[in-house]
Amino acid sequence: MDKLKVFGKADLKGYINIPGAKNAALPIMASSILSTHSLYLTNVPNLIDIKTMHKLLESLGLEINLFENSISLIAKNISNHIADYNLVRKMRASVLVLGPLLSRLRKVKISLPGGCAIGTRPIDLHLFGLKKLGASFYIDEGYIIGNLKDKFKGTTIKFPSVSVGATENVIMAASLAEGKTTIINAAKEPEIQDLINCLNKMGAKISITKNSIIEIEGVSELNKAEHSIISDRIVAGTYVIAAIMLNKDFIVQNINSKYLKTPIKILKKMGANLDVGNHYIKIKPSKLIKGTIIKTEPYPGFPTDLQAQMMALMSIADGKSEIKEKIFENRFMHVPELNRLGTDIIVNNDTATINGNRIFKSANVMASDLRASVSLVLAGLCGQGITTINRVYHLDRGYENIEKTLGKCGPKILRLK
Ligand code: EPZ
Repeated sequence: MDKLKVFGKADLKGYINIPGAKNAALPIMASSILSTHSLYLTNVPNLIDIKTMHKLLESLGLEINLFENSISLIAKNISNHIADYNLVRKMRASVLVLGPLLSRLRKVKISLPGGCAIGTRPIDLHLFGLKKLGASFYIDEGYIIGNLKDKFKGTTIKFPSVSVGATENVIMAASLAEGKTTIINAAKEPEIQDLINCLNKMGAKISITKNSIIEIEGVSELNKAEHSIISDRIVAGTYVIAAIMLNKDFIVQNINSKYLKTPIKILKKMGANLDVGNHYIKIKPSKLIKGTIIKTEPYPGFPTDLQAQMMALMSIADGKSEIKEKIFENRFMHVPELNRLGTDIIVNNDTATINGNRIFKSANVMASDLRASVSLVLAGLCGQGITTINRVYHLDRGYENIEKTLGKCGPKILRLK
């Protein structure tokens, strides 16, 4: 198991180009199942999760060519409707093949994804939406078995609560349904808009009304298409926070800053000195970063995927801060690890209280989930000595070769096998 040695008091200079968004690429790769023609994707991030989705789709019978940052997918002759446990357990996003497989093969058998470090991660909302479209499911020996008598039938679906993945599964399933589907209380993440844009390039007929209702006119088939994945707003936000913590001049570019409106507003309110363009954020040293209070919410609220990184910043900010984690029930696994690095954070149910003005020490720490891992890297960069982070495969799921990517801008990070 790889580990990272992060050298403290890091320098940081120059700029970083942000790669494509993992959470856009994964559903879009799954949507290729819907078409018998090729889907060619560019600006695909080079991550473990992308490789896992690649293997899963190949196991279903898709013909795939994966290059450094592009991928071609052809689902001309898919035959296998079973998504294997060994692949699904590695990545929850595997559940995104549920809707497309049912639409294409009328049957699906996929291992229940199971929970992960940040929560039980149920899929009841996915099944709720797909049942409304006509599917039936039962669970047997840890697998979900789904069937569809004929094509999906368009209908109106009002989600009882917001779910990114469930919204994506229903959008993909409804694209080839008979008739019109209306989705109320859909998730509004930019990655969903990117999925819709790609599906429309493939020939789907999907629109979003002013009050964020998604309307889908089912079509009979999809065609050959090309699409470039949007930039990763979470990776961008992570490196903006890193530059603020290190108090250095730095540029985060190749982004769409409108997707980071809420985090930018909050960081500025804390005292960060940010020059924000449409496709870049320039970070400049600031006099003082003050603590604040935030809660995580569905987009366009503050993203849960930046919560751990924010907590690292708040630990060195002036005064007390508070974070309410309202999306996942257990997304504070980084707290005990950060406290080993010298922070003073107390968790009470869904609320973490962060006492600021701390100094990061160095220590041996354990990565638990993707975003928790990167908060430990940020702490290590500001630390007194060398911080060793174990189980960094979590990190590699969402950040491309962080030791090289950041290493090019000054920090010294060594990967030990
Ligand atoms: C997506 O996960 C992202 N993953 C997550 O990013 C992100 O944190 C999350 O959305 C919220 O923004 C991908 O896009 C691959 P949800 P998803 O369904 O779709 C509950 C990262 O670090 N829920 O919006 O699984 C769920 O337990 C990852 O890149 C149900 O109760 O998130 C959670 O509490 C981590 N039933 C809340 O809804 C369901 O059927 C939001 O989950 C589905 C979800």
